[in-house]
Amino acid sequence: MDIKAKILELKKERNAVILAHYYVPDEVQEIADYIGDSFYLSKIATGIEADTIVFCGVSFMGESAKILNPNKVVIMPDETADCAMAHMAAVDKIKKVREQYDDVAVVCYINSVAELKVHSDVCVTSANAIKIVEALPNKNIYFIPDVNLARYVASKVKDKHFIFNDGFCPIHHALTKEEVEKAKKQYPNAEFLVHPECQSDILEMADYIGSTSGIIDYASSCEAKEFIIGTEQGVLYELRKKNPDKVFHLVSDNMICHDMKKVTLEKVLSSLENMNYQMEVNDEVRNGANHSLNRMLELGSK
Ligand code: 13P
Ligand code: SF4
Repeated sequence: MDIKAKILELKKERNAVILAHYYVPDEVQEIADYIGDSFYLSKIATGIEADTIVFCGVSFMGESAKILNPNKVVIMPDETADCAMAHMAAVDKIKKVREQYDDVAVVCYINSVAELKVHSDVCVTSANAIKIVEALPNKNIYFIPDVNLARYVASKVKDKHFIFNDGFCPIHHALTKEEVEKAKKQYPNAEFLVHPECQSDILEMADYIGSTSGIIDYASSCEAKEFIIGTEQGVLYELRKKNPDKVFHLVSDNMICHDMKKVTLEKVLSSLENMNYQMEVNDEVRNGANHSLNRMLELGSK
């Protein structure tokens, strides 16, 4: 029996579902029950009936799924798959900002460790950040950890005052204007679609800015036939699957999140065989972080 068949068989035996982010390797996306962006996956995680969730993504994703589903077993195929940006904010700084501004909302990008969510007022993803920040009654917004997404949201929500943090995604932040110019020269008829984790000079060059699902939906529904993709390489799988008649070029060969690529088929199989690595979140952290995540689900679904 091949590895995919073994995974599917074991999945049934364990009453498990497989959730996968668009950045994991193609063959893992292929065997997943649900594939999506961070917002979709956190929403889906709350409605799952199976006992076990195998989360093919990085740790903040599995951690959020566990916080939202404390009674389920959440398994990470690779326990070291982590998002560097998730650690790029500090609780001490949050406390200082709260002392400085009495009317501040701490808005926490879901790409963050649970400890940061505990000290925040609401979570957001790149798919709902503008909508949620607009819906908050607060004038002052401390947006953590991503400075690039924060600047993008600030450019769209003009009537609020933003306090910026200095976190960033090492992959998206590293994309340069020169790389984009080179790709645009090479593919002059292509539209440039980009993730808001890129720096503002890159966003200015885009035809569309959005989350991974936003990029996929835009490319699938618009008239254009050729695209330069300014996010992680893994989205190409869904883009090409949905649009066999369209052409997609990755903006740069450096757009690879090596942590997402740690989630291989072999590790998915082993995780189901051994029921590890199980995500654990202590009650205190869970109760604190649950509030920010649930508020996101509530405001994001309105
Ligand atoms: P999305 O929420 O757009 O899927 O992005 C997640 C992510 O990690 C981007 O780098
Ligand atoms: Fe984190 Fe960047 Fe990887 Fe997304 S692409 S998981 S933000 S390191």
